[in-house]
Amino acid sequence: MICIGLEGTAEKTGVGIVDSEGNILALQGRALLPEKGGIHPREAAEHHAQNLVPLIKKSLEEADLGLTDLDMVAFARGPGLGPALRTVATAARSLALSLNVPIVGVNHCIGHIEIGRLTTGCQDPLTLYVSGGNTQVTAFDSGRYQIFGETLDIAIGNCLDQFARTVGLGHPGGPRVEELALTSDNYLKLPYTVKGMDLSFSGLLTAAIRKYESGARLEDVCYSLQETAFAMLVEVTERALAHSKKSEVLLVGGVAANQRLRQMLEVMTQEHYADFFMPEMRYCGDNGAMNAWLGLLMHQKGLKNQQGRKNDITDTQVIQRYRTDQVDVPWMKKSAR
Ligand code: ATP
Ligand code: FE2
Repeated sequence: MICIGLEGTAEKTGVGIVDSEGNILALQGRALLPEKGGIHPREAAEHHAQNLVPLIKKSLEEADLGLTDLDMVAFARGPGLGPALRTVATAARSLALSLNVPIVGVNHCIGHIEIGRLTTGCQDPLTLYVSGGNTQVTAFDSGRYQIFGETLDIAIGNCLDQFARTVGLGHPGGPRVEELALTSDNYLKLPYTVKGMDLSFSGLLTAAIRKYESGARLEDVCYSLQETAFAMLVEVTERALAHSKKSEVLLVGGVAANQRLRQMLEVMTQEHYADFFMPEMRYCGDNGAMNAWLGLLMHQKGLKNQQGRKNDITDTQVIQRYRTDQVDVPWMKKSAR
């Protein structure tokens, strides 16, 4: 069975084609990079509207397939920006209807986990998912991916991006902050906010901006911002690892590009005699293949909707605040716990 997956929960339009053995036959994507300011949901939607058809064509070329070779369509129902989600859902429905093939709407966060499992070979990981719109620590337990910890306000990537924009480093901020942080080892005290198993980055963001505005060297603020934010992420991941008793840690999302975060996580993972995994960067950030693969996993399990009938096109409404733990995960073996 061959599935095409569409992605557009935020500013990246992605299309991927995957077969039921897990072979990734095509991977195409295009990100919207605003000149200044953040991402506007309507602009993201327009970006998807312009790019989906060309990317579908390119994906078919890459896979050396025709439209009629596609056996199903998958797309992310959420979480994400409303206008962006609706544009992609409409495209996915049109494609499925015109080809007369099944359609499956998937959870974006679970897509990241599943493409991570597929491409790294880890089995039952504790996952840290860090991006511009999401920050969560999840692990499989009692039939679902449970959320062990998450941000209470903004995502880590958003924190880095907002900081960078405010101090004039441009967008996306993560790579620029990382670059400057490498040239400093002068730690300035910043608020460290872990509440129970959850994280908060908004106070840290404000304090970092204030430090810079009150005359601190930008390199030192970047370094201190990274050290503080990443220590918070590693603490929550470490506690979830101890609690869940998993033996694998999987890092996914765009912020996984950061070498310092990876290094800190790897050290923690080794101290717990667990194995560290991270997909190649093209599978780490948002992409269409993750939705295609998750769609296949769900379809192969005879996906049912909430009323207990077979999933169909009427079950493809978008869900802006789609939580990871709302979805049954029957393709994973029963958790040992
Ligand atoms: P999502 O829809 O999953 O929230 P996204 O739209 O944020 O995803 P991604 O590609 O997953 O897209 O992540 C982009 C984020 O990753 C941005 O916030 C960016 O600043 C951050 N990022 C990229 N490279 C680095 C880096 N080297 N260090 C830290 N952060 C980085
Ligand atoms: Fe994502």
